[in-house]
Amino acid sequence: MATPTAIVAGNWKMNGVQASIEELKSLQKLLEIKPKACCDILICPPFTLLTGFAAVSGEMIAIGAQDCHTATSGAHTGDISAGMIADAGAGYVIVGHSERRSNHGETSDLVASKATAAQSADLKAIICVGESEAERDAGKTLSVVLDQLTNSIPETATAQNTVIAYEPVWAIGTGRTPTPQDVADVHAAIRASLQDRFGKDGAGVPILYGGSVKPSNALELMAVENVDGALVGGASLKATDFDGIIDAYRK
Ligand code: PGA
Repeated sequence: MATPTAIVAGNWKMNGVQASIEELKSLQKLLEIKPKACCDILICPPFTLLTGFAAVSGEMIAIGAQDCHTATSGAHTGDISAGMIADAGAGYVIVGHSERRSNHGETSDLVASKATAAQSADLKAIICVGESEAERDAGKTLSVVLDQLTNSIPETATAQNTVIAYEPVWAIGTGRTPTPQDVADVHAAIRASLQDRFGKDGAGVPILYGGSVKPSNALELMAVENVDGALVGGASLKATDFDGIIDAYRK
């Protein structure tokens, strides 16, 4: 399998109301008038906006959700199934984001079950991994990341239905980023683990970097070996900022 197509993905988190569709439309306009970027573009709004966004997103922008339940349906008040997300017109779902792991106590086992649910509903699962600052300071970055990775990738995973996002927890929303060399080291370890898992096809699984990506650092971070795109939080909320990150994939 060849090198992956890069993905620039926006994670809107708990932000956005119906009127925010204007931001999606602004992004579409920018994509239309600017040179074509050599990456896939994805927006993951809150559940309430999935259907509306999917209805207008068109060919150029894919839509994803930020979480899903492990079950297909049933008595799970307040939860959303992967099938519902697919039915809303989305093609992706983020699972195991560090905010889910910390705010909701999600373990890698649970994340793997969610990824199974996603992949069984024909969604691509964006499986997030990343170390805390204390873990980094203790020199445990690689062991933590590889442990999360191995335990969060389910049996249903293939190189085609899986995307990995490496997001150091201490870099999320803080304006701080690892050095390109640190990113390169972690992404190389993730790639090696994916090749153990998927054989040759492991080379084709996109590995996104996430954590304080913005227009001013995107080019440098996206140039790192084995970085196949970005998972962007804060800077994905404004079309001009997000498009400034997409610029890293324009000639
Ligand atoms: P940030 O968030 O870009 O605001 O740091 C990234 C993420 O949590 O996916």
